[in-house]
Amino acid sequence: TLAVSKICCIGAGYVGGPTMAMIAHKCPHIDVKVVDINADRIAQWNSDQLPVYEPGLDDIVQQCRGKNLSFTTAIDDSIRAADMVFISVNTPTKMFGVGAGRAANLEFVEKCARRIAEVSEGHKIVVEKSTLPVRTAEAVKRILANSDNAATFDVLSNPEFLAEGTAIEDLLAPDRVLIGGERAEAIEALVSVYANWVSRDRLLTTNLWSSELSKLTANAFLAQRVSSINAISALCEATEADVDEVASAIGTDSRIGPKFLKASVGFGGSCFQKDILNLVYLCEYFGLPQVAEYWEQVVKMNDYQKQRFVTRMVRTMFNTVSDKKIGIWGFAFKKDTNDTRESAAIYVCRDLLLEKARLCIYDPQVSREHILRDLRSIFTEGDGVISDAKQKLIDEHVSFASSCEEASADAHAIAVLTEWDEFADADFDAIFDSMKKPAFVFDGRNKLKAMDLQGKGFEYHGIGF
Ligand code: NAI
Repeated sequence: TLAVSKICCIGAGYVGGPTMAMIAHKCPHIDVKVVDINADRIAQWNSDQLPVYEPGLDDIVQQCRGKNLSFTTAIDDSIRAADMVFISVNTPTKMFGVGAGRAANLEFVEKCARRIAEVSEGHKIVVEKSTLPVRTAEAVKRILANSDNAATFDVLSNPEFLAEGTAIEDLLAPDRVLIGGERAEAIEALVSVYANWVSRDRLLTTNLWSSELSKLTANAFLAQRVSSINAISALCEATEADVDEVASAIGTDSRIGPKFLKASVGFGGSCFQKDILNLVYLCEYFGLPQVAEYWEQVVKMNDYQKQRFVTRMVRTMFNTVSDKKIGIWGFAFKKDTNDTRESAAIYVCRDLLLEKARLCIYDPQVSREHILRDLRSIFTEGDGVISDAKQKLIDEHVSFASSCEEASADAHAIAVLTEWDEFADADFDAIFDSMKKPAFVFDGRNKLKAMDLQGKGFEYHGIGF
């Protein structure tokens, strides 16, 4: 086997950081370097305030940092020294040119491959950790074939299945680790890294293309479950059925299973939408328009769910929210993360601002600057400029609070957009007293459903009942 004693990971993001921290933690004999072109991000990884919030991450980083885990901008040196190089850079939806709005932007991945080809010597195993369209390894191999120093390479696909918010749990005890490759020796090298803490029967090996495609497929299936239950939630609201009762009734069927059947204001996160759109693009590219259309519906349903939430708020509040204060509880795309990429909150806040509502936003982990940046960019036109009118809308209609109580003081309504656990511990009697009446609560996560808010005097609306 090819022995692995030095790993370099390009990309110190939500995946590269936690994943490499876990490898360093479980493999004290391996030196792990995480590199990034973003010097601020590297500085944060070297500080007490990590750029990624994940329960349990701080502990692991503190234990390993300065021993066998380091974060650095010395990209070339770290690549050169490593036996194994992970590519864990972002692969966002391409926003320009061919495939705009759908295809994955592979610019950053290609740049990494070229960098590796340029600086490497000897033999290296290159691991695709980023989520990539099926057949990307083909391109990566061709780029690596033109190494300046006649270096040689194996290319493996090792997609990451961690979920933000539970990244450390997921990395500690993964359902499976998927490794796709061509040469048994190279596959075994990566298998032996994970085998330090993951049992062998959970280490699945496949060919390169199956591995690449499995990641897009897994995310498509997961998102499809959310859109399916959300579609049913709309029907529940029209018929006095209760979507949570329907979900538990169908979830007991072992073929369906109970997980990931929670109706909500819509899925967010950097991955689901991007990966499905990428799948849609691939299907079209390979001449399969019916398959493309099938999967695209999952994203359309999610957009509909977000719009529907705002429409319901406006209709319920006597067809106007103009100049009404609305307490926004939560901005992250889900609980236990500070990530807001594609968060439903961004779209709900945008639509409420277009209705001229006054928003007072509270999130326990997302900074005010970050929220303002997200709101600015959702109102940004194609040329990257925000109009004066939209900037004014934000300036005059968005404020921030340091608690959910403060966000709701004197408000006409509360919109729960992230399922943070602390929201259930709020002082609802005090909140009720401080709100305008009727005191509306629109719960986009059904987080407060068990709290009997109706009994406390609120007018409570959740999803799907
Ligand atoms: P991220 O945006 O948090 O991190 C990517 C990092 O790569 C950034 O810090 C960026 O500066 C750096 N980078 C970009 N180009 C570079 C270059 N040429 N050289 C050095 N550094 C460079 O992205 P995240 O969320 O970590 O995602 C990475 C990949 O993992 C994506 O393909 C994503 O689809 C996939 N993924 C993400 C999951 C998630 O929960 N966020 C879960 C599973 C997969």
